[in-house]
Amino acid sequence: MALLNVLCYPDPRLHKIAKPVAQVDARIKKIVADMADTMYEAPGVGLAATQVDIHERILVIDLSDEQNELMVFINPEITWASAEKKSWREGCLSVPEFYDEVERPAEIRIKALDIEGKEFELEADGLLAVCLQHELDHLQGKVFVEYLSLLKRTRISQKLKKRSKELEGER
Ligand code: NI
Repeated sequence: MALLNVLCYPDPRLHKIAKPVAQVDARIKKIVADMADTMYEAPGVGLAATQVDIHERILVIDLSDEQNELMVFINPEITWASAEKKSWREGCLSVPEFYDEVERPAEIRIKALDIEGKEFELEADGLLAVCLQHELDHLQGKVFVEYLSLLKRTRISQKLKKRSKELEGER
């Protein structure tokens, strides 16, 4: 088991754009396993490779209560999104202790490769649709706070900078 360091907003590396995975090989499988360990340890329901400073299109999600239903999405692409939108209160491992409402399409269709490199398609609504769109944004270098007002974003950014300074001081 290997835990990866999760970048904290406003770290500029969170704004890098991830590249597609060329081949799902042993290296990618190791990254997926480490990302899953990191997500479960946090604990969180989703993690994008960008958040652990790996800039390749990889996501892991697990919405189960038991945390035993890992979903892996390699090179995910949204192929359809509903016109209907829905607002959810979102949080993020890279933005600790902040939650706010974000409006997104209520339903999406996505295609991706699984851990064996096999393509699959999935229709998602509810929390899975929210989670997938949130994580896909990370791969594009976007953090959910960027949907909020500049005032809120500035406040979050200042508080988190202060928080990471305090954490450094404790080390
Ligand atoms: Ni996030």
